[in-house]
Amino acid sequence: MNSFNAEIAKALAATGAFAEDAALKLISVPPDTSHGNFTIPCFSLAKTLRKAPKLIAEDLAAQVKLPAGLSKVEAVNGYLNFFIDRNFLAKETLDAIAAKGLEYGHAAPNGKVVCIDYSSPNIGKELAFHHLRSTMIGNSLARIYKAAGYKVERINHLGDWGTAFGKLIVMYLREKLPTDDATLDALTVKELNILYASFSKASKEEPGLEDEARAAFTKLEQGDAFYRKLWTAFRAATLKELMRIYDMMGVGFDHYTGESFFEDKIPAVLDELREKNLLVNSQERDVVMLDEFDLNPCLIRKSDGSTLYATRDLAAAIYRKKEYNFDKCLYVVDLGQALHFKQVFHVLKKMGREWYKDMYHIPFGVILQLVDGKWEKGKTRTGTASLLRDVIEAAQKKILEFIDEKNPTLENKELIARQIGISALTFNDLKNSRLKDVRFDWDAVMSFEGDTGPYVQNAHVRLCSIMRKAGYTVSASEADYSQLTDDAAYNLINILAKKGEKILGAVKDDEPSVLAQYALEIAEAAHKFIHEDRVLGSAEEKSRLFLVQSTQIVLENVLDLLGLFPIRQM
Ligand code: ARG
Repeated sequence: MNSFNAEIAKALAATGAFAEDAALKLISVPPDTSHGNFTIPCFSLAKTLRKAPKLIAEDLAAQVKLPAGLSKVEAVNGYLNFFIDRNFLAKETLDAIAAKGLEYGHAAPNGKVVCIDYSSPNIGKELAFHHLRSTMIGNSLARIYKAAGYKVERINHLGDWGTAFGKLIVMYLREKLPTDDATLDALTVKELNILYASFSKASKEEPGLEDEARAAFTKLEQGDAFYRKLWTAFRAATLKELMRIYDMMGVGFDHYTGESFFEDKIPAVLDELREKNLLVNSQERDVVMLDEFDLNPCLIRKSDGSTLYATRDLAAAIYRKKEYNFDKCLYVVDLGQALHFKQVFHVLKKMGREWYKDMYHIPFGVILQLVDGKWEKGKTRTGTASLLRDVIEAAQKKILEFIDEKNPTLENKELIARQIGISALTFNDLKNSRLKDVRFDWDAVMSFEGDTGPYVQNAHVRLCSIMRKAGYTVSASEADYSQLTDDAAYNLINILAKKGEKILGAVKDDEPSVLAQYALEIAEAAHKFIHEDRVLGSAEEKSRLFLVQSTQIVLENVLDLLGLFPIRQM
């Protein structure tokens, strides 16, 4: 509907009062459409025209030629208010939805590539509840960018390298666990979690253990075959469980290139840093100084020769640029790593990689849980944080109770309950600006009332249920748009028409919340329409059913762009 702004600006320019681009800047969309769909203040013209704004507006209202699709213009206290022709809007919007289907509002391919690094958990541990944020924000951004015309490379930069593996190896051998192939194949992430916890405990009493772990990792880095075999088993065990959860959540990746993948690409990075005289030896470590950017030095190599998280991120960035030639590379990682990414980006800058400007850290706030009456951030190490799989299970159980009460004979109710439960958790993560911390309150998140996943899911279910009950579908040519001009229908159509703008808005700020809020708007307007304009059995049945179908299509795709399951029945 953006084209209306341009048309209005053109028409105003034709009167000679406004310059076209000045008018375009001044036009806005008032929140309350009873004062028009577009409004422009005339105060800025008072000086040049030597007339009161109120009079200017009145003159212009009489003079301006209304662009197609607008029904009237009104002058009110120095403002010009333009009204959309409801019939025209219904036809434009609903015809387009019928023609484009789920892809209505999507942009044409723009030839650009975006890399999105998300989820990227550390191997050897189970996914904790807080991993949901990066996973679901990234998953949604990947879908939204695709809808906005980008080619998307979804990357899981697994934390599958580093001292943590030294710790696991040390502990595994200490506990004299069997290392035959069959045992290693059957290893589970649960067992690894236990090893990890016992390492943390033991190292408190034995300070030497940390050194042992570092030495074990160095040995692994140097290619020791036995250690490599253990590492491979640890990685596989974690990945198996990881995939199970991703599948359950409907999350996917194009590349599982974890930190270990970059091991053999690091020497070239070190050479380049040396050649460009960027490596400085400080306290026996190699660093890149970043004083000129007011940043601490970036650690590249430890005294024992082993490399670091940042080194692997440098190699990964250079690899991504070479492999995918991205226009943009996003890192959906918590706010706590802001300094790390600043350092990495600035080292790239010093290396002369001009594309460092196209790299973006997309941070987000933490999930807070109520512990003894206080909102707290959970920690995996101490075991107070819930595991993601436990949270998903609990969500499923809660929704299943609801279904058992309302619709006990529902087919596939276990699966549906899990999908609604996951969607509820996801929606709670996406509904507010991502930088805000998320306060997680079970009852509020799982409620069918308020700003929740179940509420938007339920709107979709209601639309589907009307379509099922109707038992037939309506095509665009069968709908009479003049029957869709009452307030409830018009308000809903006006919202559906904004889908394209909302997708671009979400991309502009890397904010899935723009679409989450949009889903709420659609759900609310749809409920209102269904409530006020009886569909089945009314004289306008066909036209109204056509609007129900159109709304269902838009809502289904918006849910999908958020990574929520578009449930049809509950
Ligand atoms: N594995 C890291 C962690 O769990 C996140 C990795 C994010 N991606 C990256 N390229 N550094 O903290």
